Amino acid sequence: MTRRMLIAGNWKMHGLRSDLGFFDQLEPQAALAAAAGVDVLVCPPATLLAPVAGHCGDSAILIGAQDCHTNSSGAHTGDVSAGMVRDAGAGYVILGHSERRSDHGETSALVCAKAEAAIMAGLIPIICVGETREQREAGEAFGIVGAQLAASLPAAARMAVIAYEPVWAIGTGLTASPSDVAQMHAFIRTRLPRPAGTRILYGGSVKPGNAGELMALDDVDGALVGGASLDIGQFGAIIDAAIHGCAAQ
Ligand code: 13P
Repeated sequence: MTRRMLIAGNWKMHGLRSDLGFFDQLEPQAALAAAAGVDVLVCPPATLLAPVAGHCGDSAILIGAQDCHTNSSGAHTGDVSAGMVRDAGAGYVILGHSERRSDHGETSALVCAKAEAAIMAGLIPIICVGETREQREAGEAFGIVGAQLAASLPAAARMAVIAYEPVWAIGTGLTASPSDVAQMHAFIRTRLPRPAGTRILYGGSVKPGNAGELMALDDVDGALVGGASLDIGQFGAIIDAAIHGCAAQ
């Protein structure tokens, strides 16, 4: 089974309506990428979902949220439901990012419940897993990631995307070596209910300079890009690397 590549930008807590011009610059490349078998997704903050969706219309750019609540509505001040982000124009939602696991104490059980809510609302969840530096140094990386996966992935997750993001590589400029990434992605694939059909992204300091070699790995089906996704030149170069990787196969 061939899996389409997915290059996803996680804007985290960045972006205002004055940044909408970014999408005009991205659009031609997203269209080229889509034709070459590479999906391009941007996950702006919740406040920008509807403006971005309105701005992009029916362009090739896919739109995702960065979180959702487990409930469809209710007394949860400050939270946003999966149905709401779907209604705002998102098709994807990042769940269980390490920043949410650490900033908000999110557990894998909560991530699993959020993923169920997302699927019910018609969203594709991007479920993040990854070990800390201490855990890797202690030889626990596979155990931790295996446990996170087992507890975060709902049984009915036919459409889920997995993102392997070693916590120590996020925003640090450090990336896991291609052989570490290859081993972890191969391990993750053996743990999936639909191994051949599930996309596994790598995230953690993906930049134009390392995207090519990471995207060329067998079990790497794309990237979840933080900092570099805020810069159209860098994000565009990462998308190009994925397009060239597809063309080379
Ligand atoms: P950086 O690409 O900035 O390291 O962030 C990675 C990330 O957390 C994407 O979700």
